[in-house]
Amino acid sequence: MTLNLNNHMISKLPKHQTVLLFVAIAFMHCSIKAQSQPLALTPPMGWNSWNLVEAEVSDPLIREIADAMVSSGMRDAGYQYIIIDDFWVGGRDATNHLFPDRQRSPHEMKALAVYVHAKGLKLGIYSDAAEYTCGGVTASFNFEELDAQTFADWGIDYLKYDYCNAPEDVTTAFTRYKKMGDALKKTGRPMVYAICEWGQRKPWLWARAAGGHLWRTTWDSRDVWQSNNKDLTGIMEIFDQQKDLAQYAGPGGWNDPDLLMVGLYGKGKSSSVGGRFKGCNTIEYRSHFILWAMLSAPLIVNLDVRSMDKETADILLNKEIIAINQDSLGKQAVTLFIRDNIQVLKKELQNGDLAICVFNRGDQPASFSLDLKKDLNIWFPASARNLQEHETIKKAIALTNQLQAHDCRIYRISANK
Ligand code: GLA
Repeated sequence: MTLNLNNHMISKLPKHQTVLLFVAIAFMHCSIKAQSQPLALTPPMGWNSWNLVEAEVSDPLIREIADAMVSSGMRDAGYQYIIIDDFWVGGRDATNHLFPDRQRSPHEMKALAVYVHAKGLKLGIYSDAAEYTCGGVTASFNFEELDAQTFADWGIDYLKYDYCNAPEDVTTAFTRYKKMGDALKKTGRPMVYAICEWGQRKPWLWARAAGGHLWRTTWDSRDVWQSNNKDLTGIMEIFDQQKDLAQYAGPGGWNDPDLLMVGLYGKGKSSSVGGRFKGCNTIEYRSHFILWAMLSAPLIVNLDVRSMDKETADILLNKEIIAINQDSLGKQAVTLFIRDNIQVLKKELQNGDLAICVFNRGDQPASFSLDLKKDLNIWFPASARNLQEHETIKKAIALTNQLQAHDCRIYRISANK
């Protein structure tokens, strides 16, 4: 919208109208700015309902989770989005507007968003680029603009958009995702757009152009360290599938290697595949978290935060590791080398520091000693901060430590000042 006003015309306006005019221009400027406001400049963080409850998602549950996100310190650590996954939809009303399943959500979505926002959190929702979602409830195909506007009217801040029951070819996928991406933009409400077609059509090549801020790169993660089954991907299978994707991640667009299994211990319905996988141990969950932090992956948990134990809280609330994930440069880690079972990853940080992660892929304990110059090619006199033990070695020459099976150490290397 343009305003054709010149100084002469403005000077002719009575004083109070001039003031009103400038207020109106300032307001328009702000709302245009809000529409074009860049989103997801760092990887989104939050909680998602999927693995914990699957179809049992409900309004009271989301409120309890919002409360627990605050009382547990998760919100203050940066976990912002509460995302309602599949099965929340009841259907469309006579005017084609979506409404929530009344048995699970007796209240209006708008009231839920007000509740979540009042806690200083944001609300996410789920739909699918077909007539039905993966769970078989009503989805958004052919109703993109109406649904996007409904979400905006409710105060939704994030949409996860799935791809079950949709055609397989990449052209259709791009067209359907862009249609929803454009519809979200048209509402003027800032909503993070999470594309979820499981990496099957290389979304890292086109998801940004469709308006996406993150895109799943793999099938669903299961709560198992390594599944050795290509259809039921475990944490290691998913991690290894990220290795060639670093160049596509950056502020506003992230590779999404799926939800964090941390703290589920086999209790997730979908992630345990009906009790088949019993979960990981605490060391493995900690490594999973560190590796996802290094990958600049979205940090979205799905454990029951209402009953989070201390070990899990220690992993998820480690602010120094979160800072590596949320670094504004937005670089995804690359592997420097793998020697025997030790994999070393490097992530460049905005202030010139480096995050180095040393990871024991093996099933036996191992020790490592890495010379900063010879092994890591770090030539400046450096200090190395161990982000798990919160200790700094000044004038570091080597990184040395013991690792349990599947264990990681993460260091922040800074030039000595
Ligand atoms: C797909 C997605 C999951 C979850 C379910 C819901 O499998 O990949 O993350 O959203 O659908 O049905």
